[in-house]
Amino acid sequence: MSATKHNWFEKRIMPGQLDYSGKILASFRDRVRGRVLDFGCGVGAMMECMRTQTGAAPVGVDIAHNNLWSSPFVRFDGQTLPFKDASFDLVTEIFVLHHSPILEKNFAEMVRVAKNELVLVEDVWTNKQNRWWLHRNHVIFDAFMVALTWLGLAEWKTGFKYYFRDRDEWLELFRRHGLHVLEDRELHLGPGDIVLHRVFVVAKNPPPAA
Ligand SMILES: C[S@@+](CC[C@H](N)C(=O)[O-])C[C@H]1O[C@@H](n2cnc3c(N)ncnc32)[C@H](O)[C@@H]1O
Repeated sequence: MSATKHNWFEKRIMPGQLDYSGKILASFRDRVRGRVLDFGCGVGAMMECMRTQTGAAPVGVDIAHNNLWSSPFVRFDGQTLPFKDASFDLVTEIFVLHHSPILEKNFAEMVRVAKNELVLVEDVWTNKQNRWWLHRNHVIFDAFMVALTWLGLAEWKTGFKYYFRDRDEWLELFRRHGLHVLEDRELHLGPGDIVLHRVFVVAKNPPPAA
């Protein structure tokens, strides 16, 4: 991103984004350590929160380059992660996989590069009404991002196709990949929450016996 775009983004969008990402991070901060991969890092606000609030060393990967801060960023082809097996202490994805038409491939790659734990924060529908809201909110957001891309102020490559899942579908995905579910809970980000968010913490190894 050019310096002008960077300044525009930082001034107009960022304060709110850092605040929002900080609220999300609070829901899994105790899991963050060492080298962290933020899959689909977007503008990088979550990486900035992790870096400043936990001392972890985040690396971001995305199909588009909108990253604004100092954490290392790698653009990739959306298919194969350019990292060795088990090279991250934690892998996170915040509102990304519902954009993926190749969920199994993307998730298998995330699992491959994780040493053990992964955190997924997702919009999870529970009925027809909030599924409809999810679509509506995303169409509005995508239209905004597409407009910014036309204006040369952002790079938005995903748009208008969504693959939202309910809780059972996420749990089934983890089962297919042989993972253990360590945490599975709702996340409330504000009084305006119409759609439910969920935090899943999953791991390759079973939790230690109590
Ligand atoms: C809703 S934004 C979330 C950004 C960031 N995680 C956050 O919470 O602010 C979705 C991001 O996923 C990225 N994305 C979409 N498909 C992807 C894929 N297959 N692999 C990696 N990133 C992808 C988009 O480019 C976009 O940056």
